Amino acid sequence: MSDTTATFTPRVFSGIKPSGGLTLGNYLGAIKRFVDWQEAGTHQTIYSVVDLHAITVWQDPATLHAATREVAAGFIASGVDPNRSILFNQSQVSAHAELGWILSCVARVGWMNRMTQFKDKAGANAEAVSLGLYAYPALMAADILLYHATHVPVGEDQKQHVELTRDVAQKFNHDYKVDFFPETEPVIEGPATRVMNLRDGTKKMSKSGESDMERINMTDDADTIAKKLKKARTDPAPLPETVEGLQGRPEARNLVDIYAGLSGLSDAQVIAEYAGAGWGRFKPALADLAVEKLAPISTEMARLMADPAEIDRILAHGAEQARAVAEPILRETYRIVGLVRS
Ligand code: TYM
Repeated sequence: MSDTTATFTPRVFSGIKPSGGLTLGNYLGAIKRFVDWQEAGTHQTIYSVVDLHAITVWQDPATLHAATREVAAGFIASGVDPNRSILFNQSQVSAHAELGWILSCVARVGWMNRMTQFKDKAGANAEAVSLGLYAYPALMAADILLYHATHVPVGEDQKQHVELTRDVAQKFNHDYKVDFFPETEPVIEGPATRVMNLRDGTKKMSKSGESDMERINMTDDADTIAKKLKKARTDPAPLPETVEGLQGRPEARNLVDIYAGLSGLSDAQVIAEYAGAGWGRFKPALADLAVEKLAPISTEMARLMADPAEIDRILAHGAEQARAVAEPILRETYRIVGLVRS
């Protein structure tokens, strides 16, 4: 931990885009860990459905609206408790957009040009994507710094964005000669911070992949979860005797990581239990474990989504709490920058 974080209230912030449904990658890489932070009780925990980030690429309005509630339902069904964590959707707290603008005047174009996720998403079409997609990391920095968050649990793919947040905080502090924003720590821990595609272990599991068989959706029922895991691609060799034996075996590593993430064991403990086992033994055990852990969440999500007014009420209450934390920090930012605000 850097020295600077010690002077700030211990606070966790993280977010998930409602650009489609939740996957097992979001669950293991993010939500399950959000719940762990909440349960640890060492930090105030603030979680957001980051809808302003979702619209950096085209979203059908009705689908976006439904997905925002679905992601909120996924948080709650997985154990994020709106009475113990602040849970809200980003667009209800306008301070995100306000600080986002200020920080986009601090961040440098050269920094944005280095963002690998932008390059991946824009592909050969970089001239035609939205300006928002390009500036996205400045808004993400605002999400985090608006709460003076000290720790940000994310999957591996977000590491560069959290590191950029530190650069933005440093430059702001330096330019204005203040010690105002913390140098936030990205927290990328555990065996499943990069869950891979079930059909190709070299690609990340994502909500936008072509085939539904390549991912587990948090809304999948028990039979679908079991079927997808049993059909997951593997190599022909049995599980190795040691973790080192997973080297160069991306599909095998992924299934071991998923088992470890769901069970709370380490990869080494999973390997110790299944050393030398064939897939005929490991895959059904994995499918049973996944069904045991995930099916109750999808059932609870369905129950919550049947009452959208209740989800909206929870998000509105969370937004009110988020504003209470954000407002003094935004106000002080305006003062530091020299913006007149009565
Ligand atoms: P998003 O919406 O793409 O993903 C949400 C979280 O899920 C993690 N994740 C994964 N983890 C492991 N394996 C996978 N296959 C996988 N797929 C997704 C992501 O790493 C992330 O933690 N820019 C962010 C959202 C965001 C944010 C923030 C996050 C906006 N503002 C402030 C933290 C703090 C994003 O697009 O995540």
